[in-house]
Amino acid sequence: MNREEAKERIQLLRKEITEHNRLYYVLNQPVISDFEYDLLVRELEGIENAFPEFITEDSPTRNVGSDITREFRQVEHKYPMLSLGNTYSFEEVRDFHERVIRSVEGAVEYVCELKFDGASISITYLRGRMQSAVTRGDGTKGDDVTVNVRTISSIPVTITGEHVPGEFIMRGEIVFPRSAFNALNEERSREGLNQFANPRNAASGTLKILDPSVVASRKLECLFYFLLGEDLPSGSHYENLKEATRWGFNVPDTLRICRNIDEVIDFINYWETRRDSLPYDTDGVVIKVNSLEHQAILGTTAKSPRWAIAYKYKAEQALTRLLSVAFQVGRTGAVTPVANLEPVLLAGTTVKRASLHNADQISILDLHLDDMVYVEKGGEIIPKIVGVDQDSRQIGSQPVRFIDTCPECGTKLVRNEGEANHFCPNYLHCPPQIKGRIEHFISRKAMDIEGLGEETVDLLFNKGLVKNVADLYDLKPGQIASLERLGPKSESNILNSIRESLNVPYTRVLFALGIRHVGETVAKTIAARFRSIDELMNSASETLTGVREIGPKIAASIVSYFSDEENIEIIKRLREAGLQFSLEGEAVPEGSVLEGKTIVISGVFTKHSREEYAGLIEKNGGKNASSISKNTSFILAGGNMGPSKREKAEELGIKLMPEEEFLGMIGEE
Ligand code: IVH
Repeated sequence: MNREEAKERIQLLRKEITEHNRLYYVLNQPVISDFEYDLLVRELEGIENAFPEFITEDSPTRNVGSDITREFRQVEHKYPMLSLGNTYSFEEVRDFHERVIRSVEGAVEYVCELKFDGASISITYLRGRMQSAVTRGDGTKGDDVTVNVRTISSIPVTITGEHVPGEFIMRGEIVFPRSAFNALNEERSREGLNQFANPRNAASGTLKILDPSVVASRKLECLFYFLLGEDLPSGSHYENLKEATRWGFNVPDTLRICRNIDEVIDFINYWETRRDSLPYDTDGVVIKVNSLEHQAILGTTAKSPRWAIAYKYKAEQALTRLLSVAFQVGRTGAVTPVANLEPVLLAGTTVKRASLHNADQISILDLHLDDMVYVEKGGEIIPKIVGVDQDSRQIGSQPVRFIDTCPECGTKLVRNEGEANHFCPNYLHCPPQIKGRIEHFISRKAMDIEGLGEETVDLLFNKGLVKNVADLYDLKPGQIASLERLGPKSESNILNSIRESLNVPYTRVLFALGIRHVGETVAKTIAARFRSIDELMNSASETLTGVREIGPKIAASIVSYFSDEENIEIIKRLREAGLQFSLEGEAVPEGSVLEGKTIVISGVFTKHSREEYAGLIEKNGGKNASSISKNTSFILAGGNMGPSKREKAEELGIKLMPEEEFLGMIGEE
């Protein structure tokens, strides 16, 4: 690799890793497995070491990812929350040991602990009382989630006992026990909400919920692994944790003292399979030098301590036979290949199906029917096929071919340039797409029709009772009650809710129609400018693009929607049923959410002009001020905000609120 190539690759890797950090820490929606992520970081480290002139302080190799969100007050960590160097090989564990004994004299003792897979938390206790609980954040400062942590019953709020220091910090991992996690996901699926990908995401997502009573209902637990402070009871990490157990902290009793590196390897091997039977997820073993004196000698790098290392178990894989490939058409028309497998046990559950993502994935794997394939559980719920055992392929076996036509409606599939997925263009008549539109129509943010879930929509569609959204308003008593699993009570709820949906305002009706690219925000913009559906229907593309925020893509989609006879017919029927198709008579309520707040606007914005924001502040009962003072409630901060204003805000501890959050606050998002 030459210098130019190295520079390019470094830039690309940094961008990718930063995005994965955001997906993992902020959105709690990782798209790659830890192993794949670690490979990216390792590659970056390798190139940076070979070309040190490209090392920068902000490289992800020097910084831990950040979980900071803007909803919580930020608190600086008294001791930074570092991450751990990690490895997947015994050889590197032995290298770690060699480095340790080169630095410290005498015998070294290790403490082996399980590496719990959740969200880390740092809790400060002052005179025996919980003072604050802060997330890892960017390692230097994190989110103050004390109110939420107080609801976790296994975490002591007051401490009594011997040798309790006046001030100390306990660090641990907040985890979502698997059973509670499964129950939560089932409940969310019943309510039509998104599933959490795994317990770790559920734990860190829950910690950031703004309503502590919801957090309290979620059954989180905390497993402690680190006591920090000035006057600790012992010079041994192990003894300190044992003491903390006596004070009431939940320190798992799986930790062990290991007197040499072979005992460490034994510990790792011991837990490799047994960890599946623990009530919560673990992803490795943390090996720590026991003596605090030795720890101090070894010190830390910018990112992690030299006295500890994490051995990570590779995501478990299983080998099984590929029986067939099915093609599923999603509610948006996207076609996903799904592998049917000979059932196999993987990390505690039986796997029968695995996702194949798209056509490229099939050709990268060079997949043939009857192949023996490796399946792995990654960041997502559905396992995926990660490899093929080429050696066991049978002669003459057929390569898996991606289909040309939609398995649901027979239409020829389309794949747009630059897109990974094939999709069925038969938007109007392809059954899963019709059902998808009906589900969108009845969803909470749209028409909010209760009692109708995915299953009921399937039933109504399959029985021919509801073939489009307008049919909902023609349902008669007796029709729903006669369906499987539904009775008169459900029927009356559903019919009531359908009737109530006639009061849903025009803006939400517009969103409910499911016009491509018309989400909630765009629907609001459109409704404000075109105050009735007739006005909108009769607008030419140029009129539409004349509105701020409506680009050619949205305009084209709107025009195409209204040029379809069937859509016009559906709107006609909905109108006859009594739905709201104009803003007339709808008083736009003047809000008071900003009552008593003084707000400074600074920077450039994308969604509204500064003048418009000033208007919105006043409309919602707030006061717009031009300069920052201690009376400023918050700053509505856009891009390119001047450094002096930023400094002043920081000095006075005034929150910078991005425009999206502000719009959310006044109910515009
Ligand atoms: S000790 C300086 N012990 O792993 C060392 N961490 O990559 C601090 N973790 O953010 C960490 N189990 O959230 C330690 N037994 C354990 C752990 C553990 C899980 C997490 C922790 C930390 C991350 C480090």
